Amino acid sequence: MTKTIQIALDGPAAAGKSTIAKIVAEKLGYVYIDTGAMYRAITLKALDAGIDLASSEETGRLLMDTKIDLQPSPAGQLVFLDGKNVTEDIRSEAVTKSVSQIASHESVRKQMVELQQQLASGRGVVMDGRDIGTHVLPDAELKVFMSATVAERARRRYEENNKRGFKTPLEDLQKEIAARDKMDSEREVSPLRQAEDALYLDTTNLTIEQAATDILKLAEERLN
Ligand code: DC
Repeated sequence: MTKTIQIALDGPAAAGKSTIAKIVAEKLGYVYIDTGAMYRAITLKALDAGIDLASSEETGRLLMDTKIDLQPSPAGQLVFLDGKNVTEDIRSEAVTKSVSQIASHESVRKQMVELQQQLASGRGVVMDGRDIGTHVLPDAELKVFMSATVAERARRRYEENNKRGFKTPLEDLQKEIAARDKMDSEREVSPLRQAEDALYLDTTNLTIEQAATDILKLAEERLN
């Protein structure tokens, strides 16, 4: 049987994780799992339902009655929330602003981590998020913690938004990214931090191709 490995890519918002994870997964023929999309999907549902986002109990209960599916497609990973395609909706500003709050609840994280572990079980995966190397896949053969300066991450998000027709000012994006970094790093349950056995990759001055090549090289080393 061909050997497969699990690859955990963690890091702060807009560090380039998902773009690079997709390339690496495609090159290796592995499944790509965007865990941030899963937290975004439950945030969208909570906003639509009008429940109290600060309540761990209410959001946890909502998630118990929720089905989140990730499906690969030629256009990228599609996200389904209770059977509805929400791939675009989960990228809205409203969801982006509230997702860190929802992701801070233990009731939500416990269920998400279980689901993510099931999705990754027994196969080659590239999973990106904040706590993959520390909690979701602690035995992953390759763990990389990717980051870049706030200014560079905001610039990338600005360009990405521009392509999609959003015109959020660069300064607002810098503030939003810095605020999410703070919330994701300071929360009590599974905060964003580099796993002890993760390699650090600063992508500030790297192109997407360079970062993907670096990670693929590391993956090949683990596979041989
Ligand atoms: O990767 P992203 O920006 O789409 O993630 C959205 C939010 O979800 C992020 O601000 C923190 C949270 N998140 C998390 O807490 N744990 C993960 N494994 C993935 C994302």
